Amino acid sequence: MESKRARLDRFLSSELNINRKDVRLMLAKGRVFVDGVIARDIQLPVDEFTHVTCDGQVLKDNRPSYVMLHKPVGVVSATKDDKHKTVIDLLDREDSDELHIVGRLDLNTSGLLLLTNDGRWSKKLMSPESKVAKRYRVTLKNAISEDYIEAFAKGFYFEFEDITTQPAQLELISEHIAEVTLTEGKYHQIKRMFGRFRNPVIGLHRISVGNIILDPQLTPGMSRTLTQQEILL
Ligand code: URA
Repeated sequence: MESKRARLDRFLSSELNINRKDVRLMLAKGRVFVDGVIARDIQLPVDEFTHVTCDGQVLKDNRPSYVMLHKPVGVVSATKDDKHKTVIDLLDREDSDELHIVGRLDLNTSGLLLLTNDGRWSKKLMSPESKVAKRYRVTLKNAISEDYIEAFAKGFYFEFEDITTQPAQLELISEHIAEVTLTEGKYHQIKRMFGRFRNPVIGLHRISVGNIILDPQLTPGMSRTLTQQEILL
């Protein structure tokens, strides 16, 4: 998702509930600082990383946020939903309304979900060129065999998108459990891949995204801020 951009005059007008003429006056008097520098230009861009003060009072902080959530089954990966609880509803943070989801999970999928207000970071993490590995634990209705490994590595043709899936790694954990690593994220990708074997997925859980592993201390519904190390891509 791209970062949201606004202009300084609009930002000040809405934040301080004053008209644009008063905003101009305020800027002319040198009362507003943007990123530590006196601001005179009404058109200065203001995004999630802009620091704005007026008369020494902070109007906008510029700290980026990076969050991991253990998404439970039955909670929707969206910021608003009429029917279901959303992942945003689970966050106990002041800035939760400013966050966006980095790589959605289906309603009945659990596990690692990332949220941030840093559009550049999420774009990089999700871009197909970055080929960031996403690892899932999959529980299948029927027994899995060795044949699956080669088929996942070769890729499957998806007619709707007219693409062949990137080589995926499948590791057999037990008769009904596999771990699958993807470097892309097509719609219902894992369910569709196992669908080729007519083997329904009965449990799907995301374990990791790149070097970010779901913290085992987080029970379903719990979240925490990422560490500096985890943020590095
Ligand atoms: N593949 C799916 O089918 N569902 C998900 O939520 C993630 C990957």
